[in-house]
Amino acid sequence: MNTPGRFVHGGDLQRLAAERRLDPRDLIDFSSSINPLGPPPVVQQVLANALELVKVYPDSNSRALRHKLAQAWSVPEASVLVGNGTTELIFLIARAMKSHTVAIFGPTFSEYERAAKMAGAHVEHLLSTAETNFSWNLTDHAKRVLAQSPLCFLCNPNNPTGAVISREQSLRLVESFPQTLFVVDEAFLDFLPDPGEVSMLPYTKTHSNLLVLRSFTKFYSIPGLRLGMVVGDPRRIRFLEAYKEPWTVNGIALAIGERLVEEKAFGASTRAWLPLQRASLVAALKEMVGLTPIPSEANFVLVKIDRCGIHAPWLQECLLREKIVIRDASNFEGLDPSYMRLAVKNSLQNEILVTALRQLLASSHELSTLGQ
Ligand SMILES: Cc1ncc(COP(=O)(O)O)c(C=O)c1O
Repeated sequence: MNTPGRFVHGGDLQRLAAERRLDPRDLIDFSSSINPLGPPPVVQQVLANALELVKVYPDSNSRALRHKLAQAWSVPEASVLVGNGTTELIFLIARAMKSHTVAIFGPTFSEYERAAKMAGAHVEHLLSTAETNFSWNLTDHAKRVLAQSPLCFLCNPNNPTGAVISREQSLRLVESFPQTLFVVDEAFLDFLPDPGEVSMLPYTKTHSNLLVLRSFTKFYSIPGLRLGMVVGDPRRIRFLEAYKEPWTVNGIALAIGERLVEEKAFGASTRAWLPLQRASLVAALKEMVGLTPIPSEANFVLVKIDRCGIHAPWLQECLLREKIVIRDASNFEGLDPSYMRLAVKNSLQNEILVTALRQLLASSHELSTLGQ
């Protein structure tokens, strides 16, 4: 049977801990890119009264949250749809669009491919490479593919490369291929210094072949709660709604979402924290012979391992013994075992990772010189 692919992601702490008889709470997780400053205090405040919220069905139309999001993003309420994380919405879009071919700019988040394949589509990967630091070029091949693809996924900033494409580039793409529905996944966009400069949200009002995905799970550190949104032309949103199951977003997530839209200080402190911590992590990685961090504007860094006998699965296994979890990036289409992805965490945690990596690389060097 032709299966759409296996579920492999970062943050799979329960499995890793169970396999090694560890307590998942003892692990330092660099494999999933969650904001270490969160969740903001309002989450705790809503949870304190959460019992009332679980006694009733949640509003299946997420009216109050939609209203607040629409105000915050200056878009009509009818152009917002809330989901149980953006993952639900990615699958919903693929299922509803029934596209024969889906183009995916990669290497990127694997669920676009799984969603497309589960909807019966043929997938065309438009892959960037290390030679261009994983920035995308619109090659003749990409143009041919896009002209024949009714649906295209583009992740900005991109997971796992951390590359950002400018609003001008995204807009050129959307306008050059009016027959293609572009789904721009902005799950990590809030981590940029000025998200408003890059976001495609304003263009959902003028370009009906554009859908923008937003997620609250990474930035506000609520992956266990699940909350994501899709924004687009109201007719398209109504069409998607017709394919969506009711009550997928629980009442606690809705109530917390409403409070998070109003949150300002948390966003500011996150955007002050990230550039400093990422710069010091990258500088420490660059000092280690055989590791090349790929320039990233996001809260994670893809690292190329260029050293004889060392690859990401090995590093992952060794670091686990130190209770550190990294993301072996080899299963991203277009990458291989010479790539790992590291989340940026707080300074103490980053230091623990850097020290462990230094020791591992030094001991592997000693072993290889002994063998000569
Ligand atoms: C690019 C990207 N989009 C979406 C998601 C899923 O986010 P959510 O938790 O909102 O479903 C992920 C999760 O890793 C991701 O990397």
